[in-house]
Amino acid sequence: MHEASYIGEDYIVIKALENGVTIIGLTRGKDTKFHHTEKLDKGEVMVVQFTEHTSAMKIRGQAEIVHRYGSVNSGKVSNDKNS
Ligand code: TRP
Repeated sequence: MHEASYIGEDYIVIKALENGVTIIGLTRGKDTKFHHTEKLDKGEVMVVQFTEHTSAMKIRGQAEIVHRYGSVNSGKVSNDKNS
């Protein structure tokens, strides 16, 4: 691996736990803009990486996100009886 060009080649697994989960790719650099949107239905899995063009992702809806640091669930706030 070349330190200077390393932008995080690790894979991230996103599993939709409901229909219509949205993964939004945000641009790398000074501006932070949406540049890609991907919709997943319940049970669908997407395996992704950060790239030269994408430095952040926003995930809407209930999903399980697994990465090298562990896993996290989106779309449900624990202790929130209304969710
Ligand atoms: N365009 C920003 C960048 O490349 C995107 C970003 C990455 C960001 N991490 C962030 C925006 C944390 C807000 C907070 O740095």
